[in-house]
Amino acid sequence: MKTKTKNIHIIGGGNLGVALAKGLAKYSPKSNLTVTRRNVELINELEDLNISVSSDNTSGISKADIIILAVKPYQADIVIKEILPFIKKKIIVSAVSALSINEIEKKTLEAHSVVRIMPSIAAQFGESATCISFHDKYKKAGSQIVELFEHLGTALVVEEKLMDGATILGACGTAYALRYIRAAMQAGIEIGFDAATSLAIASQTVKGAAKMSLEEKVHPEQLIDRVTTPQGCTIVGLNEMEHQGFSSSLIKGIKTSFDKINKI
Ligand SMILES: NC(=O)c1ccc[n+]([C@@H]2O[C@H](COP(=O)([O-])OP(=O)(O)OC[C@H]3O[C@@H](n4cnc5c(N)ncnc54)[C@H](OP(=O)(O)O)[C@@H]3O)[C@@H](O)[C@H]2O)c1
Repeated sequence: MKTKTKNIHIIGGGNLGVALAKGLAKYSPKSNLTVTRRNVELINELEDLNISVSSDNTSGISKADIIILAVKPYQADIVIKEILPFIKKKIIVSAVSALSINEIEKKTLEAHSVVRIMPSIAAQFGESATCISFHDKYKKAGSQIVELFEHLGTALVVEEKLMDGATILGACGTAYALRYIRAAMQAGIEIGFDAATSLAIASQTVKGAAKMSLEEKVHPEQLIDRVTTPQGCTIVGLNEMEHQGFSSSLIKGIKTSFDKINKI
């Protein structure tokens, strides 16, 4: 079946909005994209990718099938008020953290469908673990958004109560994983590699481990067993990391982020 070209209007061309636009331009060719932000000169480069840019949130919005909100939570109200006259029958997709579907409905007067997403900036490279949530009455719109985000990595429908968790584990998780890569890179330099080689090895190793985990879908420890030899150098290193609190610090960090999310 032929998929119809979708007009997608992304409001908030910052870290996430630009990552989504670049990812959609690359991996979802059936998308006509517009990105808006007030300081539009900072995203003019997107025009080279055939993406329209504007400082006017309502420019071309009447053509949009899908409007993606990618502004900070405190910026959402003003943006929603601005686009209110143009959202009838459109799908409003919100990536705004901690803003519930009910709250969005209240602000937008229910003249449309509402879908919440929690992608990561890895969407730019087609590798986001996007969590998606919607009410039953928005099932049709929800399915369209799942299909769209499958182009940008994985798209998992979750209960809305898990969206804060998705923000921490998926979106913030990108930063935690990069911090691991940075630490491994620094260790690599100590044991003899130059910085660039060390970074390349650390990054590809994480990519390889992630791919194994995604494809084999077994407990990570089963895969770790394949790397560890009794009395070998992997297990002594792993155990020393655990003595120093490796897993514990990660778990505590993730829980601290989670505790913070509703206090911002
Ligand atoms: N970054 C991530 O990894 C990530 C992942 C998942 C979800 N999120 C969520 O996505 C949202 C955006 O995060 P972000 O990191 O991309 O923030 P950001 O980099 O600060 O981007 C927000 C953008 O919104 C624009 N903006 C602010 N007010 C606006 C207005 N009235 N009209 C149009 N554009 C406006 C800002 O540009 P101007 O000042 O030029 O207008 C800015 O570029 C947040 O709610 C965040 O929780 C982020």
